[in-house]
Amino acid sequence: MTKIISGFSKFTKQEKINWIASTFFTHGDEAISILQKYWNDDQGLQQLHDEFIENTVSNFYVPYGVAPNFIINGKTYAIPMAVEESSVVAAASLVAKFWSSRGGFNATVISTTKIGQVHFMYEGDFTELNAYFQDVRSELFRATETITKNMRKRGGGILNMELRNKSDKLDNYYQIHVTFETKDSMGANFINSCLEAIAHRFKKEGIEIVMSILSNYIPECLVRAEVSCTLDELGDNGAEFARKFQQAVQIANVEPHRAVTHNKGIMNGIDAVVLATGNDFRAIEAGAHAFAAKNGQYQSLTHCEIHNNVFKFWIEIPLALGTVGGLTALHPLAKLSLELLQKPSAKELMQIVAVAGLAQNFAALRALVTTGIQEGHMKMHLQNILNQLGASENEKQQLIMYFNKRPVSHSGVVEAFEKMKSQKI
Ligand code: MEV
Repeated sequence: MTKIISGFSKFTKQEKINWIASTFFTHGDEAISILQKYWNDDQGLQQLHDEFIENTVSNFYVPYGVAPNFIINGKTYAIPMAVEESSVVAAASLVAKFWSSRGGFNATVISTTKIGQVHFMYEGDFTELNAYFQDVRSELFRATETITKNMRKRGGGILNMELRNKSDKLDNYYQIHVTFETKDSMGANFINSCLEAIAHRFKKEGIEIVMSILSNYIPECLVRAEVSCTLDELGDNGAEFARKFQQAVQIANVEPHRAVTHNKGIMNGIDAVVLATGNDFRAIEAGAHAFAAKNGQYQSLTHCEIHNNVFKFWIEIPLALGTVGGLTALHPLAKLSLELLQKPSAKELMQIVAVAGLAQNFAALRALVTTGIQEGHMKMHLQNILNQLGASENEKQQLIMYFNKRPVSHSGVVEAFEKMKSQKI
């Protein structure tokens, strides 16, 4: 049977499911039943989700958890996190509590400038191109006036436009580099609409527009979050712990293999809040990793200093986030997340998200330089293994108690489960 199909998007949801089931599954009924199990009984809510994308056939659940006790700039937050990895919310909660009695987190937004570019080809003389650009520059601003009207009322809009000569990198390549302030919105649609209007007005014979698109690399939309305390406040072996912790950060700064994993741990916290608040985690990921490589080598996004008996640990990361527009009002859980965060501005959300990343990195490094991560990780994963084995609630409770004081490994759990089944433990 052919697996190529035309007009799939025109099928009803049921027809799509039936086609998938009969084309790709030997047990089609089972596939249909799983897809349908995740439909929401609330028709309105289901329709909303159906319409977010094309060809929706089901919903894909990710757990939505909350990490309480975060003190950021003196204000207390319970942070919503949407994530499937078992230890992330637990780690965030532990670290939030730890720092809540050591002054909490401090965060500052350093800058909020977003970037977009019109990329074009031009074979002529640069001086002439520049003269033309200077000539039409105010016209280019005018071409965006209807699009920027509301944004300007909110204090945002286009900040600057400049012609950049990139022909040393690629023959005949130039760009109009545009900077934006988008206030509380992430601004992707706004920026792209402005760029397309600019490109339309700019084009003429000899100028070939290639594309107009925002950049997800926004090193000047930057936030810093920090914790600090005396070495004594870090616990019994505070000085020793701080020294090893700092070494771990230094290793991530000089060794890209470690840096990628180190930053992945940071993104565990960041993506979870970004997703829970209806923001674009792929944009955040791409921008964060580009920033981590800004010095020509991929490095740690966090930094650590020990000075005069004070341990200081901080992150600087570019984050393009919105608290209005996009999914933020449309997705009921994203809306609820923002309410839970006490309706933050985009700047406040940047601070919260940066803190979530810093906290996650603190948790990972603390575990790595002391007990190792597997102890905590496997304890959290125990539930998943028990679910995979089909353990009943009663069996789960008994085995969780059994492993309370024992190391958890997949084979160890299977063995204990089998023993229990044969009444040996
Ligand atoms: C696992 O998801 C994240 C860690 O590997 C991060 C790290 O190694 O720093 C624990």
